[in-house]
Amino acid sequence: MTRDHVAINKAVWEADAANWEEIGARLWSMEAPVWGNWNTPEETLNILPEDMRGKAAIELGCGTGYVSGWMTQRGAEVTAIDVSPQQLATARQLAQTHGAAIDFLEGNAEATGLPDASFDFAISEYGAAIWCPPEVWLREAWRLLKPDGALVFLGNHPLSLICSPLNGAPCDRQLHRPYKDMWGADWTKVDFEPSGVCFNLTIADWMALFAEIGFAVTRYQEVYAPEWAKGTRAAIPAEWAKTYPMEQVWHLKKPA
Ligand SMILES: C[S@@+](CC[C@H](N)C(=O)[O-])C[C@H]1O[C@@H](n2cnc3c(N)ncnc32)[C@H](O)[C@@H]1O
Repeated sequence: MTRDHVAINKAVWEADAANWEEIGARLWSMEAPVWGNWNTPEETLNILPEDMRGKAAIELGCGTGYVSGWMTQRGAEVTAIDVSPQQLATARQLAQTHGAAIDFLEGNAEATGLPDASFDFAISEYGAAIWCPPEVWLREAWRLLKPDGALVFLGNHPLSLICSPLNGAPCDRQLHRPYKDMWGADWTKVDFEPSGVCFNLTIADWMALFAEIGFAVTRYQEVYAPEWAKGTRAAIPAEWAKTYPMEQVWHLKKPA
């Protein structure tokens, strides 16, 4: 990836931010967290520690900030970084509405400038998890975590990428791209709903990178669409996602 993905993705999110205000407001108001494109309930995925009192947590690529809001409800002291000032403006406003004290920072999740070993818990839901090169942002997350700290991230499953046509049309049951040497995809010039530059790896390459950095994998989840799902979300038809995993969640630990 030689193009400047950070500037490209920032521009995409600046332009799209207004479309996320309503979604953000709805998610901030949920009684319990829900995750990903099909709003998979927290009780199914168990992503957040139930009690985060006394924990310092960071969200990498926070968007409208609802994940950070859920962490403050569980007692964490939360820092949230995003590259888009417009997304942060929505997040700040929603945090104020909900009385959540969150330290919002404008910046690149690949190089936060925050001190080493300052967080117990790091998370990304479709933030750095998909918009930043894994070999860069995972090293930054490692640096930010204290020993025994945990990182959880959720994004697209690599299978959904190889089943996505090159022109950006919704994914189907054909293999449109090679799996070997997968790095992600440039969606800037596609015919359907162009966006930015996203990153993904084969499962073996994710595992190799975690091991190289020093992360231990504590859990890996593949997320399908629920039976009630209809239509298409994020260019993935519900009918596809009921039988193939649309999303993945990696739970990692920095050893003590
Ligand atoms: C889909 S939102 C993620 C937030 C939320 N969990 C969600 O799913 O809506 C993606 C966010 O990642 C941010 N982002 C993209 N590249 C980034 C980077 N290099 N550093 C920090 N944030 C980034 C975008 O500005 C955007 O707000």
